[in-house]
Amino acid sequence: MQKRIVVLISGRGSNMQAVVEAGLPVVAVISNRADAAGLAYARSRGIPTAVVAHERYSGREAFDAALAEEIDRHAPDLIVLAGFMRILTDAFVERYAGRMMNIHPALLPAFRGLNTHARALAAGVKIHGCTVHWVTPALDEGPIIIQAAVPVCPGDTEESLAARVLRQEHIIYPRAIRWWLEGRLRLENGVVRVEGGEPQLVYSDD
Ligand code: GAR
Repeated sequence: MQKRIVVLISGRGSNMQAVVEAGLPVVAVISNRADAAGLAYARSRGIPTAVVAHERYSGREAFDAALAEEIDRHAPDLIVLAGFMRILTDAFVERYAGRMMNIHPALLPAFRGLNTHARALAAGVKIHGCTVHWVTPALDEGPIIIQAAVPVCPGDTEESLAARVLRQEHIIYPRAIRWWLEGRLRLENGVVRVEGGEPQLVYSDD
């Protein structure tokens, strides 16, 4: 049977767009913000959308329960976090254990959390990038599926660095999801292996 993917967004939705354009089976896009720009793209592609507005709930537990209810209506096999900017409760993460992926705009375990590009510039690192990983309760800590590395160039601003990283996000997220769809992701002692041995590292100075 065709697998079903639900994508969660909070804003622009360019990673969601890359996943949809890669032809992956996205059955719904859910946002915690009604003004998320990505919702219009999803609608334009005929993909059902929903908004679960976090400010309407009294706390994280109540929000996560409502979010889970909306997700489960679409009976997904995989939940894809694509710029979803809410911290999720452990109970929510455990409910979707082994079937929720995230993309993080840094080379984990460096620069967990927010403002990764500014922090990379401030730290003076010469290499930066993005990571697709399985979601576990500890923030930005789950098993790494694929990473893309980019150089940090002299004269880079937060914007130029973010744009270089984002180009790679749009490449590695669909790739990771495709591996999952093909049943090729294995977890061995907490480390992700891809059956067939495709490289789990991309390097690009594009
Ligand atoms: C992306 O750069 C993604 O890696 C990042 O937000 C951006 C969303 O862009 N995610 C996080 O920072 C998660 N903590 P998009 O809405 O255009 O995909």
